[in-house]
Amino acid sequence: NSEVFILAIESSCDDTAAAVLHNDKVLSNVVANQLIHAQYGGVVPELASRAHQQNIVPVIDAALRKANISKEQLSAIAFTQGPGLMGSLLVGSSFAKSMALALEIPLVSVNHMHAHILAHFIDEEGFEKPSFPFLALTISGGHTQIVQVNDFFDMTIIGETTDDAVGEAFDKSAKILGLPYPGGPLVDKHAQLGNPKTFAFTKPKVPGLNFSFSGLKTAILYFVQKKKLDNPDFIAENINDICASIQYTIVEILMDKLKLAVKETGINQIAIGGGVSANSGIRKAIKDAEQKYGWKTFVPKFEYTTDNAAMIGIVGYQKFLSKQFETAAVVSKARIQF
Ligand code: KG4
Ligand code: ZN
Repeated sequence: NSEVFILAIESSCDDTAAAVLHNDKVLSNVVANQLIHAQYGGVVPELASRAHQQNIVPVIDAALRKANISKEQLSAIAFTQGPGLMGSLLVGSSFAKSMALALEIPLVSVNHMHAHILAHFIDEEGFEKPSFPFLALTISGGHTQIVQVNDFFDMTIIGETTDDAVGEAFDKSAKILGLPYPGGPLVDKHAQLGNPKTFAFTKPKVPGLNFSFSGLKTAILYFVQKKKLDNPDFIAENINDICASIQYTIVEILMDKLKLAVKETGINQIAIGGGVSANSGIRKAIKDAEQKYGWKTFVPKFEYTTDNAAMIGIVGYQKFLSKQFETAAVVSKARIQF
């Protein structure tokens, strides 16, 4: 089984993505971002579906061309079944079904959150793969989870957010500060120029391994409103220090829970995934933990952290090897039980 070629399609939110894998190696990884949403301050589902319809054929075509293989060489088609926006998921799944049917090859469904975790198993020079069991911290615009990963398809959520996802916390904080959507990367950019100890935001008290970020957002809102009363230019004058302080607090919240998870499970291999793992503060804290706590940590290649199809492809490859195929009656799911 050394010549497996998987075409993977990801369309769960606002990125249309396709990738071709040869076994566990990525031959091509194409993403079409939808810039249309920025002016609305968030993803507009109707517009996302429409953009997927426009982008999907060119994106798949580009992925096949870059991989330099023909459709006839494909072993299977993998697609994101969920979780995500229904209208967006339907575009990818319908296309995947039709193509698998036409080529008479197997169809493989993939859980988007599994893919963020298993992206670490893509064969990439300079990147080591974790061994089982390990803990995965998946942090994105829609999710914040600590997952105990025992094997490719044996994983349990041991902690998750009870309200906002950490990406939302970044994006909503950014919005309060008047930064455009998605604000996460901008908060990060300013934070790198500021002093994280300038302003103190209280961390939420959530029992166990769960998270809460809605209180932080409210604290930031009140802080900004109060400061603006004294000085209307307060935000502009202190943007770097404010962002550094917010980012510092969010990183502390994540690291506190990871420390507790390591203590409770006795597992000290930590892999991060999801769009927010691009954050410089989180990357540094995770790397520093190797020296500080003796953990072994895994940070994926940047292009495999935000939404992409290569991560769908690596799960597709694993499922192909264990012959976990779908019939053409498979349905998209906005929510999926882990
Ligand atoms: O995984 P992803 O691309 O899409 C989802 O599945 O949600 O994650 C997108 C999220 C957004 O909230 C974005 O603001 C955040 O990841 N993000 C960041 C950074 N880069 C992306 N947040 C903080 N710092 C960053 N550097
Ligand atoms: Zn994602």
